[in-house]
Amino acid sequence: MNAVRFEGRDIISIRDFTRGELDYILNMASEMEEVAKRGSDMLRGRTLASLFFEPSTRTRLSFEVAMQKLGGTTIGFAEPDISSIKKGETLADTVRVVENYADVIVLRHPLEGAARFAAEYARVPVINAGSGAEEHPTQAMLDLYTILKEKGRIDGLDIALMGDLRYGRTVHSLAYALSLYDVRLYFISPSMLRMRREVLDDIKGRVDVVEEENVEDVIPKIDVLYVTRIQKERFPDLSDYEKVRGSYRIDLNLLKGAKDGLIILHPLPRVDEIAPEVDATPYAKYFKQVWNGVVVRMALLALVLGALE
Ligand code: NCD
Repeated sequence: MNAVRFEGRDIISIRDFTRGELDYILNMASEMEEVAKRGSDMLRGRTLASLFFEPSTRTRLSFEVAMQKLGGTTIGFAEPDISSIKKGETLADTVRVVENYADVIVLRHPLEGAARFAAEYARVPVINAGSGAEEHPTQAMLDLYTILKEKGRIDGLDIALMGDLRYGRTVHSLAYALSLYDVRLYFISPSMLRMRREVLDDIKGRVDVVEEENVEDVIPKIDVLYVTRIQKERFPDLSDYEKVRGSYRIDLNLLKGAKDGLIILHPLPRVDEIAPEVDATPYAKYFKQVWNGVVVRMALLALVLGALE
């Protein structure tokens, strides 16, 4: 796989990547583990702009620290109310301004399609850090990397995605990505929050999919449990949210039936869907997953900015 194919490239949807490209990125992320510890000036003189129109802790900070560990600098806003957006500036204009200051733009926006739209206007690469309920491709890459690092492989695993499969963007990107591997997928959710039809239609034929409402029945069968929070802010009607809130929770009692090597992932933030008592078990990998976001984003920045051979 030739790294040149990544230079200047936007990262908008995980569906724009082949399995070979994803494997190449995972490989580069693993090379970044050492670089992250000693630091590098691979991206010295280059600037990353993070434009966040929605709250974030991990995604924004990990992109910024990834850039800094490669010797680059960062600018941006995490609060659109303090930028000219507040005065009515459009996303298209914002992007055409910011590209004069930065070599790469990382964008999080509440609207589906926002990242694709921004990329059409920007001359510099745009990385989608979350586009409404639609997709979060770099999260899926770090999720794949975590599975590979913890289990030694992705192929051959039984993997459950659980929680808000309707409004959760991370599970959409992850389902697309996993459909390129030889896995069995379990989608566990209350019926109101079932996996989006468009995702099911896209991946069926490539992987086996089982939809379930009860996590108890699935726990003994799986190698990976990927838990998500109910995306309260995306419900058009809060009375629907009240019907499903607190409807699932992973605790020690439930995990009695788990395989020894089960790993539990979560994109975070967690609300109440994993009991804190689970944190101290060998299953819990969600805080280790956070570090993996740094090395995966280092690899992506180095690739799209043409600094990796
Ligand atoms: C997720 C997101 O923003 O989609 N967070 C993240 O980037 N790690 C998940 C969430 O908000 O529930």
